[in-house]
Amino acid sequence: MDWLAGKLLAWFDDCGRKALPWQQNATPYRVWVSEIMLQQTQVQTVIPYYERFMARFPDVQALAAAELDEVLHLWSGLGYYARARNLHKTAILVANSGGEFPTEAESLEALPGIGRSTAGAIRAFAMGQRAAILDGNVKRVLARFHGVSSPLASTATLRELWEHAEAHTPAERTPAYTQAIMDLGALVCVRRAPQCASCPLAERCTALATQRVDEIPQGTVPKTKPVRRARLYVITAPNRACLLERRPDQGIWGGLWSPPQRQPERSVEAVCAEFGISPSAILEHHTAPVFRHSFSHFHLDIEPHYLRIKQQPNQVADGGGLMWYAPDGAAPVGLSAPAAKLLAGLNEVFGDEPPEVKLRP
Ligand code: ADE
Repeated sequence: MDWLAGKLLAWFDDCGRKALPWQQNATPYRVWVSEIMLQQTQVQTVIPYYERFMARFPDVQALAAAELDEVLHLWSGLGYYARARNLHKTAILVANSGGEFPTEAESLEALPGIGRSTAGAIRAFAMGQRAAILDGNVKRVLARFHGVSSPLASTATLRELWEHAEAHTPAERTPAYTQAIMDLGALVCVRRAPQCASCPLAERCTALATQRVDEIPQGTVPKTKPVRRARLYVITAPNRACLLERRPDQGIWGGLWSPPQRQPERSVEAVCAEFGISPSAILEHHTAPVFRHSFSHFHLDIEPHYLRIKQQPNQVADGGGLMWYAPDGAAPVGLSAPAAKLLAGLNEVFGDEPPEVKLRP
């Protein structure tokens, strides 16, 4: 075992995280789900989602047998929904080939949503293998320790960091080492204002010795994100059901349900006409303040439009990508975060009284 691994393991025994839910009974299934959830999301956010997910889908067969809608429902709010769709796809593939995850790196990496680092984490945490990982935190730790100052996104830099990751990973206590290097990146060797004074690697850290901790790792200059604008139409029938549309599989919120989203240039009348709602059927029309939902590549400024209509139009039956959704019912569908927010705001907009009271002639 090399110096870095020895130092990290000693640090882990004192300071590492040992009570995370996915560290208990670390099966390939449980570790895989946790790694996918943790790909873009912080530990504290993930924990309650993870607990709910495991309670509902305790094993790969349960997940494979579920409807995608229910998987997305449990994912609602975590974002990056391609992760949930890939999770479901992979569960079906694994369940259909005997229910066990493959143990070789190459076969694991062939599964939807599993890259080299995730495969490494599953092999290290759940399969007793000496396998390396290289997630964002680990990249930062290794880049600083070895003074790798070239841009993180470049293929050559990644190759170099993978080489370091493979070389340091010990054959003994691989799970503890893997958790340790992740934890060091998350808790000590953080991006801004790292706590070098309490770092077990400080003594031999190249970035610290050469006073380049703030320059390494070199990221890409964040571009200013473009701003797009959209209207979300919350169309409510007398029984309080709202019209929801299923988002196309590709693109943002793929497969999730959302109030119809349309360009601001499109008139309210034209949108209503799409659903067979005539202007005379609109009882109330309110707008709410624009709010911003940010994605990795753009900001979406959302203009909420609340419409209360006289009756559910005949042409909109459930099915075919449209449904009437009772906001207080617990229908297991995945709602985008803004959809959930807008539906939660319904009572405020229209008041709590039975809707008939507010009907205008
Ligand atoms: N991020 C990815 N995997 C993790 C783990 N096992 N613990 C904490 N953060 C993580």
